[in-house]
Amino acid sequence: MIDEIDRVLITRDEIAEKIRELAARISDDYSGKELVLVGVLKGGFVILADLMREISISLDMDLIAVSSYGGGTKTSGVVMLIKDLDVTIENKHVLIVEDIIDSGLTLSYLVENFRTRRPKSVKICTLLNKPDRRKVDITVDYTGFFIPDEFVVGYGLDYDNRYRQLADICVLKPEVYGGGKADK
Ligand code: PRP
Repeated sequence: MIDEIDRVLITRDEIAEKIRELAARISDDYSGKELVLVGVLKGGFVILADLMREISISLDMDLIAVSSYGGGTKTSGVVMLIKDLDVTIENKHVLIVEDIIDSGLTLSYLVENFRTRRPKSVKICTLLNKPDRRKVDITVDYTGFFIPDEFVVGYGLDYDNRYRQLADICVLKPEVYGGGKADK
């Protein structure tokens, strides 16, 4: 498995420190407000689990599943809702928690979808942000790391549904996904 990994980009310790920083900011910013954290499956469940345990204020959480890609690495540009929220977000402050923002299509869809449900606010928190890959304009409120356009796996991120369990964020060897520009 490790043969396909080129190098570690962000270590588990760096991730843990960043999660604590993000959680401290979020705890301050949402103090006294009704906060709902929404993790985006599948990749987002790892950061959601770590982030929520570092947040010091009361919160509710839920999970949503969307799909914007087929197998492999090609971006279809189509976002499908696979599992909706169980909780109502009307009059609540929603913070969407993601592992990575790439084209921005997934988050753009989710923000628009959630706004129709009349929340008090909808904001975005992502561990990784690839601004060079953006296809649609979105406001990202909390970013852990800005990263270059390389194919990253680990900490929830997959290549063809593998590597999600790696504790560090790692760069995949270009020959594994056919080289050229990384699609994730
Ligand atoms: C990843 C990630 C985001 C999305 C970001 O999920 O978790 O949801 O891609 O890409 P975008 O900004 O180009 O829309 P993916 O669709 O790979 O599904 P997964 O989390 O189930 O692996």
